[in-house]
Amino acid sequence: MVALIVNGTPQTIDMDSDTPLLWAVREKLGLSGTKFGCGAGLCGACTVHVNGQPVRSCSTPLSAAEGLDVTTIEGLAGADGRLHKVQQAWVDHQVPQCGYCQSGQIMSAVALLNDTPDPSDADIDAAMRGNICRCGMYSRIRAAIKSAAKA
Ligand code: FES
Ligand code: FES
Repeated sequence: MVALIVNGTPQTIDMDSDTPLLWAVREKLGLSGTKFGCGAGLCGACTVHVNGQPVRSCSTPLSAAEGLDVTTIEGLAGADGRLHKVQQAWVDHQVPQCGYCQSGQIMSAVALLNDTPDPSDADIDAAMRGNICRCGMYSRIRAAIKSAAKA
């Protein structure tokens, strides 16, 4: 059993503490917006925040999040349903193609802007390097991040 807070709600997860956080989020809590890609910490599709920092949930054991705040893509919008400014920028710039990588991309972008509100191209490249998009939407991702920074 591992206790943690997910999107503001306390949760007790009945899984082994070495289970990847990704499976707790998807299988136990039904939050399927976080995706399984490589399963090896290499693609970023599974990115969530733990205490505000982006982590690869496929390779983060549940025990590493014990007692901490986890945010998934489902937790970004406001209580009134209003999209987070990064999500809105993604819509405005029509970033997703197949969409599979996009929740991870957005979670990394939100973490970047929380730390660096006005990122340079180099900041964006450094923060987003680990998020792979097989549809090659990198230029739109960069434009959307810059747009969200101005919002
Ligand atoms: S699925 Fe976690 S980094 Fe690829
Ligand atoms: S939108 Fe298809 S992998 Fe990124």
